[in-house]
Amino acid sequence: MLRPVEDVAKSGIALAGIQENVKIETPQKTRKEGSTMDGVTVIAHPLVQHKLTIMRRKETSTSSFRRLLREISTLLCYEVTRDLELTMETIETPLTEMQSPILEGKKLVFASILRAGNGLLEGMLELVPAARVAHVGVYRDHETLQAVEYYFKAPDALSERLIIVVDPMLATGNSSIAAIEKLKERGAKNIRFLCLLAAPEGIKNFHAAHPDVPIFTASIDSHLNEKGYIMPGLGDAGDRMYGTK
Ligand code: URA
Repeated sequence: MLRPVEDVAKSGIALAGIQENVKIETPQKTRKEGSTMDGVTVIAHPLVQHKLTIMRRKETSTSSFRRLLREISTLLCYEVTRDLELTMETIETPLTEMQSPILEGKKLVFASILRAGNGLLEGMLELVPAARVAHVGVYRDHETLQAVEYYFKAPDALSERLIIVVDPMLATGNSSIAAIEKLKERGAKNIRFLCLLAAPEGIKNFHAAHPDVPIFTASIDSHLNEKGYIMPGLGDAGDRMYGTK
């Protein structure tokens, strides 16, 4: 029997085996009513959780990882766009005229934080092929530990669009915070952040910098290790999707 996500959460089944005190909500509910971790929606769809488990396994090959990432990003995209505004349009079917719903407003923007963000783009664009794409390249200066921007290209009219910023891993939060600062400087106002895994430390930093940006993730993991990796995590997302080391 299918159970609503709230029941799954209550039952104590550890989703991805991680933060047990996190309430699992539907996206709309989380944003409207808040949850244990305000501003964070954990996407508990069974297919998302199943695919994520396979991605985490160390023996999963590069090709399987990439295929799963494409599949999971389509499902995550479905959830992060669940409450988009619709407007009615008059159309003609082969039989008659009717009023039918269609997405309102300017085309969405998917903003990829290079390089791992690109892994989420393919599946998302399959679902929303008309979306515009922004690329933001930031790296961490080893001496200052500050995020340094090296590339930025975005569509026009950012202030009139919903921007979904994507990066598989919300670890320290430094690069996503910097990327969103850049997008805001260029006028972006309506922003959501989508990742596969988030660390509590990253969520805290992110919320402090951008309290107006809701986070969507498939899992909140336990913590960051001393090297800044999410634990238990899945390793280096970029290396796993591109077969680099
Ligand atoms: N980036 C990754 O790819 N993996 C982590 O665990 C943290 C940051």
